[in-house]
Amino acid sequence: MARHLITSAIPYINGIKHLGNLIGSQLPADLFARYLRARGHEVLFLCATDEHGTPAELAAAKAAKPVAEYCAEMHAVQARIAEGFRLSFDHFGRSSSPQNHALTQHFAGRLADAGLIGEVSEKQVYSITDGRFLPDRYIEGTCPNCGYDKARGDQCENCTKQLDPTDLIDARSAVSGSTDLEVRETKHLYLRQSELKDELDAWIDSKTEWPILTTSIAKKWLHDGDGLRDRGITRDLDWGIPVQRGTQPWPGMEGKVFYVWFDAPIEYIACASEWAAANGLTDAEWQRWWRTDKGAEDVRYTQFMGKDNVPFHTLSFPATLIGSGENWKMVDHLKSFNYLNYDGGQFSTSQGRGVFMDQALELLPADYWRWWLLSHAPESSDSEFTWEIFQSSVNKDLADVLGNFVSRITKFCRSKFGEEVPQGGAYGEIETNLIDDLSERVDRYARHMEKMEVRKSAQELRAIWACGNEYLQTVAPWTTFKTNPERAAMQTRLGLNLAHLYAVLSEPYLPDTTDRVLASLNVEKTSWPEDIAEFLQRLSSGHSFQTPEVLFAKITDEQREDWQRKFSGTRNP
Ligand code: MF3
Ligand code: ZN
Repeated sequence: MARHLITSAIPYINGIKHLGNLIGSQLPADLFARYLRARGHEVLFLCATDEHGTPAELAAAKAAKPVAEYCAEMHAVQARIAEGFRLSFDHFGRSSSPQNHALTQHFAGRLADAGLIGEVSEKQVYSITDGRFLPDRYIEGTCPNCGYDKARGDQCENCTKQLDPTDLIDARSAVSGSTDLEVRETKHLYLRQSELKDELDAWIDSKTEWPILTTSIAKKWLHDGDGLRDRGITRDLDWGIPVQRGTQPWPGMEGKVFYVWFDAPIEYIACASEWAAANGLTDAEWQRWWRTDKGAEDVRYTQFMGKDNVPFHTLSFPATLIGSGENWKMVDHLKSFNYLNYDGGQFSTSQGRGVFMDQALELLPADYWRWWLLSHAPESSDSEFTWEIFQSSVNKDLADVLGNFVSRITKFCRSKFGEEVPQGGAYGEIETNLIDDLSERVDRYARHMEKMEVRKSAQELRAIWACGNEYLQTVAPWTTFKTNPERAAMQTRLGLNLAHLYAVLSEPYLPDTTDRVLASLNVEKTSWPEDIAEFLQRLSSGHSFQTPEVLFAKITDEQREDWQRKFSGTRNP
């Protein structure tokens, strides 16, 4: 038994996330958390909303709401949808929490004391009409690179070139459209990450278990050109965490806030503190997960994220933690994902393209989506959602294999023996071989799970389900029954025990289905099958059950075509 801290990249507050976001971090993190809990480990699984920065302010303005109110509402919406997908966070926090304010200011103070923060005077665009600076997305104009006329201050969406607001041609305010702009001097704080280069290098070298993809991205940023250049950590915005040096004011920084990418990862820590507060626990309770001088020495910390987030998690956030000079728990394992595409293009929040989490749940229960997304996770390369692939894998894997097995065995038993596990004689050779085969497969499944190999473990799980169908096909209890009802009873007993086994093994992928099958089988408490032979004896003769309703309805061609049409356009984000 070990202690596992698990965090998923925290989703931006503006708008409901799409399925590509879901499979990029939250869902695989949930799979891992559920698996580890099932194995008896102590798990703290945290996620939150990422609430600061210009996207939040602009989305609130568009919704004509004060930004604090907008964020509170959207947090509740995202929390409800996360529940709908059965994401089993121990806490779903908010980066705007008082805990994150205090911690972010604390880190800034520590970094300043360590001489790792510099003040830089820079030129920024100021809007006279709006009476404010226009950082990042607050400014729009023509891209100097491609001529696109709606380029944003931080990036051109058309040619993807990274921009500075002062690069734009014919710049205008994204708030008011005003072109009455001027360049003014403003002072900002910079984190002197380059000072920590050697320590970061040594730390990355010590992570021998990291996947090559992760290490190479980290090393590239560390050594190539400007990857580790000093980073501005403040902004001229209203919404955010006020710049303070610990609990003290920061002279010259009045009215400024920390940059969203500085405070967002600190929310991983603050979230644990929010979790403790929400559950009436002491500070020591969350610190034992996060402070290596307060009990977190033996914690295994795993982070899940999309590949674009890797540099922030392997360099910037570790720089904050190391630079503080305190004993913060640093990440042990880091699992990153490529992108999921939608029907020949990209999922896009800003363009409303693809299937969004709320829409998905309106169409089908969570388990259908969980299964498809996890079994097609973009691990080694990008992957693609099409309605055809979705229909075929739901119908084949869930309806034809797992659903069909459970339905066949329970219905057969009901018709011949009633809704009670029959006894029958001892296992024969076929049964012993099946048990050996399953033991190996379950071991393999567990090994893939431990290594967070999401697709491979899904394949193994599916193969384990398929063993049940093959078994029934081979021994055909409905035929055996005619000549040897004793033996048919034994085969049926094993079949019902397999249904129990499948329910337990499938829980990390299909939590609702597991609940339904266990309820039908009248099983209340169960544990991981350490010994398959023993586990397959747990439902003994006389144990009663209720034949479940159909577990998975097949997706019809009509439905598929209908959904294809419905989701071919875009929705208002
Ligand atoms: N909101 C960011 C995204 O969706 C992720 C933030 S992760 C954290 O890309 F480390 F900053 F918390
Ligand atoms: Zn451009």
